[in-house]
Amino acid sequence: MALIEMNGIYKVYHPGEENEVRALNGVSLQIHRGEFVAVLGTSGSGKSTMMNIMGCLDVPTAGEYLLGGTNVKELSDNQLSRVRSLAIGFIFQGYNLIKDLTALENVELPLIYRNIGKSRRRKMAQEALAAVGLSGRLHHRPSEMSGGQQQRVAIARAISTAPPIVMADEPTGNLDTASSIEIMELLGELNRQGTTVILITHDIETAEYASRIIELRDGRIIRDHLQQRPAGEEAGA
Ligand SMILES: Nc1ncnc2c1ncn2[C@@H]1O[C@H](COP(=O)(O)OP(=O)(O)OP(=O)(O)O)[C@@H](O)[C@H]1O
Ligand SMILES: [Mg+2]
Repeated sequence: MALIEMNGIYKVYHPGEENEVRALNGVSLQIHRGEFVAVLGTSGSGKSTMMNIMGCLDVPTAGEYLLGGTNVKELSDNQLSRVRSLAIGFIFQGYNLIKDLTALENVELPLIYRNIGKSRRRKMAQEALAAVGLSGRLHHRPSEMSGGQQQRVAIARAISTAPPIVMADEPTGNLDTASSIEIMELLGELNRQGTTVILITHDIETAEYASRIIELRDGRIIRDHLQQRPAGEEAGA
């Protein structure tokens, strides 16, 4: 059974109005557990729209979306928010850290909302920050860290509960080449450990870290291919 399955997904913003946008135009795909998939496309091709639907952050105008075999349409709001908070770790281009909180506090915050007790959540946050190489920056605030370090804090926050799926929308969009490589290697490592990784990018070199590239244009899949290089080998090596 596919982990993610889209059947004829359409997303139309402002339907019937003058400013109508057909952001997704009949997208069908399957993604299986353990895959590392890059969704590649130019600006406006529908990448974020697709990720928002995959992540249950938005609903399609038409078509069927199944997550883990369940039709998302049949889930209650409560079940949906559980899926979002337990099954999927989200990473965004702008890190979305809280500026007045330390790295440790930023990673702990979502664990508070999950009612995880203080000592356990501290330990989970410390372990997640160690996994991204930031044990030495636990008490730094975002303004005291580099962009790459801030994105690593965001990754630690996304993986602290070990979600089976990580979705990253342009995670290296604000980073220099060296930091971008670090982040992509981290995502590769997560994938080797069994996490299904879905990466959104407009950059072919970034996409090449994935083992499968799905290319979008004007809301349609124009190419879907496996990479020659087996998952696990570093790009550019
Ligand atoms: N909330 C919205 N309301 C109206 N139109 C939208 C909305 N969100 C996206 N769009 C439009 O849908 C199309 C696809 O947008 P989307 O954000 O999915 O593209 P993208 O591939 O992620 O682009 P980028 O690389 O610039 O982030 C674009 O034409 C965009 O203008
Ligand atoms: Mg986008």
